[in-house]
Amino acid sequence: MRATRIYVPRETAAVSVGADEVALAIAAQAKKSGALIELVRNGSWGASWLEPLVEVEVGEQRIAYANVARGDVASLFAAGLLEGGEHERRLGPIDEIAWLIDQDRWTLFRCGLIDPSSVDSFRERGGFAGLEAAFAAGPGAVIEAVTKSGLRGRGGAGFPAGIKWRTVAETGADRKYIACNADEGDSGTFSDRLLMEGDPMCLVEGMAIAGFATGASKGYIYLRSEYPLTHRILTRAIDAVRAAGWLGDDIQGSGFRFDIDVHRGAGSYVCGEETAMLESLEGKRGIVRAKPPLPALEGLFGKPTVVNNVITLASVPNIVRLGADRYAALGIGRSTGTLPFQLAGNIMRGGVVEKAFGLSLRELIEDWGGGTASGRPVKAVQVGGPLGAYLSDSQLDTPLDYESFADIGAMLGHGGIVVFDETADMAQQARFAMEFCAIESCGKCTPCRIGSTRGVEVIDRMIAGEKRDENYDLLIELCDTMEHASLCAMGGMTPYPVRSILEHFAGDFASTGGSR
Ligand SMILES: Cc1cc2nc3c(=O)[nH]c(=O)nc-3n(C[C@H](O)[C@H](O)[C@H](O)COP(=O)(O)O)c2cc1C
Ligand code: SF4
Repeated sequence: MRATRIYVPRETAAVSVGADEVALAIAAQAKKSGALIELVRNGSWGASWLEPLVEVEVGEQRIAYANVARGDVASLFAAGLLEGGEHERRLGPIDEIAWLIDQDRWTLFRCGLIDPSSVDSFRERGGFAGLEAAFAAGPGAVIEAVTKSGLRGRGGAGFPAGIKWRTVAETGADRKYIACNADEGDSGTFSDRLLMEGDPMCLVEGMAIAGFATGASKGYIYLRSEYPLTHRILTRAIDAVRAAGWLGDDIQGSGFRFDIDVHRGAGSYVCGEETAMLESLEGKRGIVRAKPPLPALEGLFGKPTVVNNVITLASVPNIVRLGADRYAALGIGRSTGTLPFQLAGNIMRGGVVEKAFGLSLRELIEDWGGGTASGRPVKAVQVGGPLGAYLSDSQLDTPLDYESFADIGAMLGHGGIVVFDETADMAQQARFAMEFCAIESCGKCTPCRIGSTRGVEVIDRMIAGEKRDENYDLLIELCDTMEHASLCAMGGMTPYPVRSILEHFAGDFASTGGSR
């Protein structure tokens, strides 16, 4: 008799709402009822609002049950779970859920679908076909494809990946590195984690392709320290890949040598800045380095280094496998391809939605996110992490692409979207932006180190109603100094959220009373 396959995600968000307990309860109930089951701990499809999302394989279909709790398991079995039986938690076949199938899943297409610990499961869904295609095409053709695809860095700055790779490839150094930035420090972001927990071998494949294209034989993943489950899943996957001969010396007889180490981050926001990350990888304090030299020329241990975000690297295998043109056909203008947008904060349907660039923020929040969780009107939306601008309702029709966001003084960053309803006190959010910078500043340059502390004080005076006009002018001047004189984007972009609040939500300063 064939065992019935049941999928229960082992992914941080699912586990936080009881997925491990559900998995244990399913195993116990199956044993008790003498049912033969195979429990697969998959990753998440990204629909965090449906977790724990349990699936049962029935014939060719996978039947989904949403928000399953440990206490539901007995009644699910009684309702015929193993045959996909009716139950109040039943959603139906996973490939008929509109929220999932209407996405443009280029990078996250295997998340939820496969067993992340199994090389066979990965291979069955096109795993390593990109690396094989790279071996066949040669390094130059891979760089050409990445360039032609228009892929830009998904870590925040949006720099073209092909140019970075070509710079590293053209250096004549004896040793080069691929450093994957998995620090994922931005508020409201979790797509890197979702990929590393749901399809970790895709990242391994992307890094190996980057190594092959640029002539690097060693890669490092700088992993956010607050991701302990990710660390376990990732290291186990890397071990399995190595054991299967897709990492190490002479990969699959190609003559190409490449291996990866996972390095746990130091727990500081600035360690996500690429030069601070390199310092931290070298075992030093994560303090920003002055540029030039660029990491592509003098990076890790002084050697040419490709620094790329998880999603950037994980987008590459399909670009090489399916063709640059297919990727470039998605998106809008110079923002080609897709971005896994992350819906967080006060939102009804939180999770990751991978869509081609160009849909509006309003569509994402209302159609995909279902509006606020509180049911109150949206007041503000912060896009792009703690250094991103707060957008008002009047800006929600802005298309989600790099250029449209730059035009309104905002940025997409890593695609994190944090929603606030009408109860949010935006004066406090402005204070928080400065306070965050004061706490997280690496301290290397004065505008950021001192400016952010003075910024908190000025905002406190404004909130208290002290000489509002004078303090307003001072804050604007301080923002200008921080923007233009800081060494990196930490101090340089903290003014973005502050200025956007002054522009769109100035009333929140007035509401506290006092003289202007
Ligand atoms: C303060 C600060 C924090 C950053 N944090 C991250 C991060 O957590 N993850 C990331 O990929 N990039 C982060 N970046 C951007 C990196 O410096 C760098 O641009 C990126 O890793 C390059 O990869 P990409 O071209 O693939 O985006 C941060 C930048 C700054 C200024
Ligand atoms: S801007 Fe801030 S984080 Fe960046 S180098 Fe200066 S002190 Fe460090």
